[in-house]
Amino acid sequence: MNILVTGGAGYIGSHTCVALLEAGHTVIVADNLSNSKAATIEKVKQITNKEITFYHMDMTDELVNTIFSNHNIDGVIHFAGLKSVGESAEKPLDYYYNNIVSTMVIAKACQKFNVNRFVFSSSATVYGDNKVPFVETYDLLPTTNPYGETKAMSERILTDIAMANPAFSVSLLRYFNPVGAHESGLIGEAPNGIPNNLMPYITQVAKRKLEKLRVFGNDYITMDGTGVRDYIHIMDLAEGHVAALNNLTEGVHIYNLGTGQGTSVLELIKAFEEANGIEVPYEIVDRRPGDIASCFADTSKARQELGWIVKRDITEMCRDAWRFEKNYK
Ligand code: NAD
Ligand code: WQD
Repeated sequence: MNILVTGGAGYIGSHTCVALLEAGHTVIVADNLSNSKAATIEKVKQITNKEITFYHMDMTDELVNTIFSNHNIDGVIHFAGLKSVGESAEKPLDYYYNNIVSTMVIAKACQKFNVNRFVFSSSATVYGDNKVPFVETYDLLPTTNPYGETKAMSERILTDIAMANPAFSVSLLRYFNPVGAHESGLIGEAPNGIPNNLMPYITQVAKRKLEKLRVFGNDYITMDGTGVRDYIHIMDLAEGHVAALNNLTEGVHIYNLGTGQGTSVLELIKAFEEANGIEVPYEIVDRRPGDIASCFADTSKARQELGWIVKRDITEMCRDAWRFEKNYK
């Protein structure tokens, strides 16, 4: 199939391009490079030895219609979006505008050009502070930040479009905590400035770019008091997109993409130290506002309906994250 990958130069998008190309699909990437580099596309070509057509374009601009005119698009994976929870509270309008308008512009182009396969990047954040493991049938709770609201709203918009047009097939993928990098070490997660997320913070401490990790709270009701999350290897997540696309049928389908396994902050630090033989200095500090104690997935629906299972464990996540960070300049 000819797949338009919006945000395909970013962290999850670039790894998904590798998985799509390896599965035999043709990939067209559109990205405004607001949080990524065009060089990443070259790395994806190098890894796969395949071609990619790249458009430097903003997905809130109706110019995206030209992509649909130029290519016979069979399906869209819509990754393009702003993703920092903290920043979304400071710049709500930027988040609502970018994330909601881009979803609407792409969906409108799909209607115009009769493209009926749509895969959307949602997030476990839409579950709010719920009972673990999170199940797709849960009613969504209000999230504590504009970023989470943009995901919940985009889910509703796409659902309403599918209700009005039964031919429209939508897969809403709720990601848990993607970490790690492609095993080549050529592409990975490279956040701008000081990382917000745990794994890139750990790798930068390991590289001695940052002095020590701050562990946000050790008084949660979890096995060791620190926050528990469902870390998933980025290539397993990428392969989940290929499975979702290949199994897409009419209507709206929601899938958790996680491992179903909860890992605490202290466990992740230990796994990283053991996998790579490097010490990660840390200190315990206060809880981070807005954090919940535990978040992990019920993965049975994705396993049963998509036949998708994760293949990589926490040690590979830590090894691959470090391999990328070590090489990254
Ligand atoms: P990323 O920032 O690395 O990738 C997003 C890409 O979209 C970037 O390349 C950016 O330049 C591009 N982009 C942003 N706005 C755009 C626009 N208007 N037009 C064109 N391109 C635009 O982030 P990521 O981690 O790869 O996340 C991809 C998607 O998955 C996002 O929608 C994010 O909200 C969602 N998601 C991410 C996580 C996570 O932990 N990384 C978890 C759940 C959901
Ligand atoms: C993981 C754990 C922290 C940093 C966020 C978004 C979510 C999704 C994924 C997009 C928590 C602890 C972290 C640090 C720490 N993104 N931590 N020290 O918060 O689960 O999810 O990214 O959709 O929407 O909210 O991920 O990696 O920030 O935190 O102790 O320096 O690590 O408290 O328990 P989170 P995270």
